[in-house]
Amino acid sequence: VHDVLFDNLRFYPMTAGPEADGGAADPAASPAAAAGTCFAVTDGRFSAVGETVPASRRVDLGGRAVLPGFIDCHTHLVYAGDRRVEHARRRAGASYEEIAAAGGGILSTVRAVRAASEDELVDESLPRAAALLREGVTTLEIKSGYGLDLESELKMLRAARRIGELLPLTVRTTFLGAHTVPAGRDRADYLAEVVDVMLPAVAAEGLADAVDIFVESIAFGLDDLRTLAAAASRQGLPLRVHAEQLSSQGATALAAELGALSCDHLEYASPADVAAMAAAGTVAVLLPGAYYFLREQRPPPVAELRSAGVPMAVASDVNPGSSPIVSLLTNLHMAGVLFGLGPAEALAGVTQHAAMALGLGEDRGRIAQGLRADFTVWDLDDPGVLLYQLGGVTPAQVYVGGVPA
Ligand code: NIG
Ligand code: FE
Repeated sequence: VHDVLFDNLRFYPMTAGPEADGGAADPAASPAAAAGTCFAVTDGRFSAVGETVPASRRVDLGGRAVLPGFIDCHTHLVYAGDRRVEHARRRAGASYEEIAAAGGGILSTVRAVRAASEDELVDESLPRAAALLREGVTTLEIKSGYGLDLESELKMLRAARRIGELLPLTVRTTFLGAHTVPAGRDRADYLAEVVDVMLPAVAAEGLADAVDIFVESIAFGLDDLRTLAAAASRQGLPLRVHAEQLSSQGATALAAELGALSCDHLEYASPADVAAMAAAGTVAVLLPGAYYFLREQRPPPVAELRSAGVPMAVASDVNPGSSPIVSLLTNLHMAGVLFGLGPAEALAGVTQHAAMALGLGEDRGRIAQGLRADFTVWDLDDPGVLLYQLGGVTPAQVYVGGVPA
């Protein structure tokens, strides 16, 4: 006997991939509803999908639409302070790179994070996570990378883990010690500390689920990526990479060859980068909020990614510098308007493909037998509306592990 039968609903399993359409999904398509009108949950997982089964309890969802819980697979949500002044300077003509080179940018948030206690980081960051949960985000990735010394990186990761204990959502943490070079440090010397001291300590405390690096003219290079990838693999941690955000570096192709789970940003990705991702099965994580907020002019090569069959995820990149946009629904909408993703594609980007970017593709992100029963309930005829209307639509209910959040 199953625990709960959820009945009288329309559900969107998000199980179809690009392969279902012979390699090129129809960009205009909305997600397809399943034939059945119910599913069962037992011990927090979908235990029957689409068929009426005996259960201890029955919940009538009143004919509403059900989607898998959203997964925000790329955020820097734990931080202190803000960068409003810098933003105003950019509006007046300074570039993101110029501000970084002058000691602002990431380094100004590093100063604020080092000065904050773990409790203060939690207090400042928790409302951001709570806002995402209200939009239906049930799995949230959070990166470190504003500490850039051992104690401050550990503090950020502990704060991130605590958010997962304080709210009914799953937090997955990523160690981004290689976000940029701290003030006054030599790049190679700092990267050696990341690899030899910080990463082993983070791994020993079980504080990271993945490792990330920002490859860019203002941060790290291809050799650093190779070194970090080897170190991550020694710790048994998957690799993710901030690649081709502001310029073309070839980081995407290299990361794909090195077995990265995902390459993220990709505005400047080349055809060779796309081919390498397709060959390796790397997920492309698109971050339209950063593109919008920095007023970038070159969108990622979505048509090429689509026809190569590269799974595309969409995430918020919440951070104080390039995406102070605490809304996955807004990013979903921008993925459509600014990057040309269709409704089914963009919604797969915040469900099944986002799960893949976290290495959780067999655990969540779809409504299918055996997967975690994280789902959201909507008063919508067609979830594709979320690519059309911006604002004013939030889930009627959010369930985590089959229980109301
Ligand atoms: O994903 N690209 C590097 N990291 C962040 C921005 C960090 C910041 O400016 O604070 C990003 O855009
Ligand atoms: Fe980022």
